[in-house]
Amino acid sequence: MLKANIIEKLNAQVNAEMFSSNMYLQMSAWSEDKGLAGAAEFFKKHVPEELAHRDKFIHYLFECGASVRIGALEAPRADYNNLVEVIEAAYAHEKKVTAMINDIANLALDERDFNTFNMLQWFIAEQREEEVLFRGILDQIALVAFKGQSGEAMFHINQYLQRLAQTL
Ligand SMILES: [Fe+2]
Repeated sequence: MLKANIIEKLNAQVNAEMFSSNMYLQMSAWSEDKGLAGAAEFFKKHVPEELAHRDKFIHYLFECGASVRIGALEAPRADYNNLVEVIEAAYAHEKKVTAMINDIANLALDERDFNTFNMLQWFIAEQREEEVLFRGILDQIALVAFKGQSGEAMFHINQYLQRLAQTL
């Protein structure tokens, strides 16, 4: 039986994963609007991935006999000045999610809830991968001195994201 404070945090994480999915869908739509098909495809790949994260948390709550409570979702940011801002926002968001997962893991340890702590190990590894992914893109952006302006650097980054999307 899960403790009430753990159930509350896991339900909050269900919502957070849904928010992430919507955020990436909005980033994909923003990219599509700007004619950045590669970036649009890259962000779109994250949409079902985040919903799969949501489902993992829901499945765990079910397994533990705990109730799932879906809350309201905030609208994701829709306006960005350029693609660099979008990538930076995605990276910042993933770091925030990492902190949320770490926070639940910390609580699970405090409560000696080793099942929840164990379940979270998958997410801890997943968050490391997400951070590595976005840091890698920011490294490429720095490499071609891309500041968000149209031109050759923009063309390269869009193509780079298109290739990355194939690997996700
Ligand atoms: Fe996620």
